[in-house]
Amino acid sequence: MKIVAIVGSIRKESYNLKLAKYIQQRYKDRFELEILSIRELPFYDQDIENEPPAVVKEFKGKVAAADAVLWVVPEYNGTIPGVLGNAIDWLSRVDKVMNGKPSWIVGASMGLLGTVKAQGHLRDILFASGIGSPLLPGNEVYVGVVHEKIDAEGNLTHEPTVKFLDTVVGNFLNWYNQQAKIAVFK
Ligand code: FNR
Repeated sequence: MKIVAIVGSIRKESYNLKLAKYIQQRYKDRFELEILSIRELPFYDQDIENEPPAVVKEFKGKVAAADAVLWVVPEYNGTIPGVLGNAIDWLSRVDKVMNGKPSWIVGASMGLLGTVKAQGHLRDILFASGIGSPLLPGNEVYVGVVHEKIDAEGNLTHEPTVKFLDTVVGNFLNWYNQQAKIAVFK
């Protein structure tokens, strides 16, 4: 199974990027996770959406080819970062590569609530008709105070968080397989 991760932070030391890398390593026997870069995507522009730059085509192509998408979402000013919204705008148009593409969400912040507002907004966006991504119900992974739960090597050191992540990954894979069997996904 091939999953692509879309990380909503482009900074080098991003905790959300570290979380994505941790998931990539920990569950490498269960699925292949490719972490996509959204750093190089230009601002979405309707004037060029039918013939976008190569970097956009490549990004959309990778999402289209994947079995599922993992959103790894930071919280900026109580919502999703603009760079993530920009990536979603590209994905939502023309060939609509998220349509029917199952996805699930995790997120980390230094605050106590661990991106609860951003994830709520992202859930709303994904249910919007333009995107149409079937989303794993429940299983909300809010990694708050992340700077105290991850070590210098990028390992999650907070055992309850790791256990919960194990549960969510199992739930995601079960849900994916059930849904795929009844052909809800394209
Ligand atoms: C933040 N941060 C933040 N945290 C939070 O829990 N709720 C919020 O609304 C915000 N708002 C916010 C706005 C801006 C512009 C910045 C730069 C930061 C803090 C944020 O959670 C923290 O910087 C994380 O480390 C960002 O994620 P990455 O880059 O580490 O993945």
